[in-house]
Amino acid sequence: MKLKGRVAIITGASSGVGYAAARLFAREGATVVVAARRRERLDHLVAEIAGEGLQAFSIPTDITDSGEVRALVDRTVSLLGRIDILLNCAGSVQRISPLEQFTDSDWRKVIDTNLSGVFYCARAIVPQMKAQRNGTIVNLGSRVGRVGVGNIAPFCAAKFALSGLSQALAQELRPYNIYVTTVFSGMIDADMAPLNPDVNLRKRFMTTEDVAQALLWVCTLPPSLRVDELPIMPRLIDL
Ligand SMILES: NC(=O)c1ccc[n+]([C@@H]2O[C@H](COP(=O)([O-])OP(=O)(O)OC[C@H]3O[C@@H](n4cnc5c(N)ncnc54)[C@H](OP(=O)(O)O)[C@@H]3O)[C@@H](O)[C@H]2O)c1
Repeated sequence: MKLKGRVAIITGASSGVGYAAARLFAREGATVVVAARRRERLDHLVAEIAGEGLQAFSIPTDITDSGEVRALVDRTVSLLGRIDILLNCAGSVQRISPLEQFTDSDWRKVIDTNLSGVFYCARAIVPQMKAQRNGTIVNLGSRVGRVGVGNIAPFCAAKFALSGLSQALAQELRPYNIYVTTVFSGMIDADMAPLNPDVNLRKRFMTTEDVAQALLWVCTLPPSLRVDELPIMPRLIDL
């Protein structure tokens, strides 16, 4: 077991990559604290993990609410005493359309979910990790956070900004032995509303389990090694 004794908070764990990562990290011995808004999906996940004799806790959280994020971190520390890993998997595209059709509310939701939520999570967890002088923060970015793509401009903007936030945090936290990295992902066969691509195209995307493996890899590097950015792509297509 590669994560025995570690405590991991995983946001966006009610579906997609966060869900697969929670299963994988628990199998590798971590106690996982799963967070997202849909309580019943988190409960189902916790039951699945418990069914394998492994440990998970559900703390329903809207990461766009900094008060809820603080409560997530406080409850985790009071339950488990430490936080070794933060996986920021929560994200949302919201809609796909020409720029002029995005409403103020669409823009705010995309920025709040993909960027502000990560800021709130990191801000709440960093004091605990600093006190431990140990921690790993992994941000799930996107290929379109490195190359702009039309009709998802707010999402691209949020993911580009996430990369800057990640780089700045990585530098700031290095003296405290806290490692921050970003995984820039190509297309994943996840829920992906409102993308809904054709079923044959989806077969060529990465699976959520593939991406979870990449997240595990960056969390289990030798302590003398860091990977600041990890781009991952489906093997057969450039999406
Ligand atoms: N799918 C792709 O092709 C792709 C490609 C590159 C990068 N990514 C990134 O990968 C990450 C995971 O996405 P996915 O593909 O696994 O999609 P997904 O299945 O739609 O998962 C998104 C997760 O984010 C959670 N979430 C959304 N808003 C939230 C909020 N306000 N508070 C807490 N949790 C929230 C959702 O849970 P609730 O609705 O229950 O809150 C859900 O668990 C995202 O950051 C996404 O940008 C995806």
